[in-house]
Amino acid sequence: MSECAILIKDLHKTYRTGFWLAKKKSLFGISLEVKKGEIFGFIGPNGAGKSTAIKVLAGLLRKDSGEVLLLGKEPSKAESRINLGYLPEQPYFYDSLSGYELLKFYGGLSGLKDSLLEERISWALKLVNADADWIYRRLRTYSKGMQQRVGLAQAILHKPELLILDEPMSGLDPLGRRDVREAILALNKEGSTIFYSSHVLSDVEAISHRVAMIIDGKISHTGTVEEITKETGRNSLEDVLAKEVSRAVP
Ligand SMILES: Nc1ncnc2c1ncn2[C@@H]1O[C@H](COP(=O)(O)OP(=O)(O)O)[C@@H](O)[C@H]1O
Ligand SMILES: [Mg+2]
Repeated sequence: MSECAILIKDLHKTYRTGFWLAKKKSLFGISLEVKKGEIFGFIGPNGAGKSTAIKVLAGLLRKDSGEVLLLGKEPSKAESRINLGYLPEQPYFYDSLSGYELLKFYGGLSGLKDSLLEERISWALKLVNADADWIYRRLRTYSKGMQQRVGLAQAILHKPELLILDEPMSGLDPLGRRDVREAILALNKEGSTIFYSSHVLSDVEAISHRVAMIIDGKISHTGTVEEITKETGRNSLEDVLAKEVSRAVP
C-alpha cells in the first residue's frame, strides 16, 4: 500500500451544467495505480477526461463515486496537498506580477521562509531553464513557453513527493518540450513521483515508465509502452490511439 502514490478505483464523474443542470458524464469507472518513483503518462485525445480526472485528484472537483487516494490520503483532506505539486492545464496567474514575484508568493504560501525560499527559487528556475532576466518581467508579457516554465517552477518549489502536471508540454516548441522532459527526468531522479497528462505521444514515449490511455472517459490500456504496443500489435502509442479512436467513432 505504501508503494502507491496515486490510487484511483472505479472513479465516476458527472458534470452538471447550464440552467437545467444537464448531466454530462465524463468518467465511466476509471482505475489506475501509480507507484512511488514512477513517471506515469496519462494520454488520450482532447475531451477524453484527462483534466477531469486530474482535477478530482487535485481536490478541485468532487467525484460521483469510486476511491481516490494521493499518498494514501483522500484529496478532500487538506493534508493530501502538503506533499503535492500541481500544474493546472490553464494556470491562472496574477499577470501584473513578475514570474519571480509569483514564485515568492506561492513559495511563501507553502511555508518556505526567506533564505530557503530564495535558494529553492534559484534551484527551480535552473531546473526549468528559466534563470534569465525575463523572470523579472510581468507575466502578461510571457510566451506560452515562459508561462509553462514558471508554472512548473511554482509546482516544484516545495520539492513535493508527488507532482501532478496537466499538459506540461502543451503549446511549447520542440526545445521547450525538451526542457520540460528534462525537468521531469531530473525531478524524478531527485525522488519525485510524476503523473502527467499529454497528447504529445512522442514525449510520453520518451520518458514515461508506464502510461494509461483514456478514451471517452474509459481507460483503454495501461502498462509500459512496450507492453501496450506488443499487446496491440502496433508500432507506437500513436498507432494504438489511432486504432482506438477510429473504433470509437460510430
Ligand atoms: N466544466 C465542465 N462542464 C461540463 N462538461 C465538461 C466540463 N469540463 C469538461 N467537460 C467535458 O468532459 C469531457 C472531458 O473533458 P476533459 O477532462 O477536459 O478532457 P481532456 O483533458 O482529456 O481533454 C469533455 O467532453 C468535456 O467537454
Ligand atoms: Mg485537458
